[in-house]
Amino acid sequence: MDQKEATILRVLDGLWESHEWVPANLLEEKVHINPRRVRAMVRGLENRGWVEWVSSGKMGEPSIKLKETGKDALAVWDLIKQGVIDDLGHVVGEGKESVVVLAFKDDRKVALKFHRYYSGEFTRIKDSLAYAAIEAWRKRTFGRVSKDNRPIVIERAKAQIEYWALGKLEGKVKVPRPLGINRHVVAMEFLGDDLTAPLMSKFKKGKDQVEGRKLVDEIVKEYEKAVKMGVVHGDMSEYNVVVWKGMPWMIDWPQALPQNADGADALLERDREKLKRLSEKFS
Ligand SMILES: Nc1ncnc2c1ncn2[C@@H]1O[C@H](COP(=O)(O)OP(=O)(O)OP(=O)(O)O)[C@@H](O)[C@H]1O
Ligand SMILES: [Mg+2]
Repeated sequence: MDQKEATILRVLDGLWESHEWVPANLLEEKVHINPRRVRAMVRGLENRGWVEWVSSGKMGEPSIKLKETGKDALAVWDLIKQGVIDDLGHVVGEGKESVVVLAFKDDRKVALKFHRYYSGEFTRIKDSLAYAAIEAWRKRTFGRVSKDNRPIVIERAKAQIEYWALGKLEGKVKVPRPLGINRHVVAMEFLGDDLTAPLMSKFKKGKDQVEGRKLVDEIVKEYEKAVKMGVVHGDMSEYNVVVWKGMPWMIDWPQALPQNADGADALLERDREKLKRLSEKFS
């Protein structure tokens, strides 16, 4: 991607509120590049799967849509510009709610978490998790999410919440150190040497009894430390703890809540219940 292509993606991204499909004329007007060049460049972006082009949009005119992969590319471009990363590696985790990719800055490894939002998630988060966090966020105007009463983009809100939680706990509780944020992407310390370190779920009752016991005690301690610092994780489980350097690191914070927010008590109780069950597994 070059600077001009990035400009096109940026303009499309900037117009998301008013246009899912951006009329080609409007794009041409905004980017200040010769219209014929714009067309050719849009085709190039289309070939890379970052935008979609229709020759006859809503009003019958040629229109362009920025795709999810295009938003990813723009966020990566900006993270490079911000000096957060300088190269990308392979995918280390892929689910419905996020994709985690290895990246590099100089000789250090960085984890990039691309937050996703899928509609199936809505019923689940409507009552609790990310949605409650978004509501709390909106009320408190912690970040940029609710500025100017813009509609909330859920995957961006999730990224901001995760970044907020990591920042609050950094250096005090075992969480990956936050390194940067752009749109729906959070950059954080990579937990692992060559590969991602194993999850707590890999530790088995019986076989890993002694180590498991030690780790669970540590997780409970770290979890309660986070609560004391005012952050409730909200999705605590053995799948959201990475074991690295013999210590448990809590990951996956997009549904975190400030401890005094509405709904935080219920999540706190549920987290503690889950930790209790995990603890029983190794008792
Ligand atoms: N900082 C990190 N360093 C190394 N690996 C990580 C890091 N953060 C996440 N991962 C890897 O990516 C996976 C998914 O991360 P996470 O739990 O934060 O996202 P998620 O939204 O729950 O994703 P999924 O839907 O795939 O479970 C983790 O299980 C872990 O293997
Ligand atoms: Mg997870």
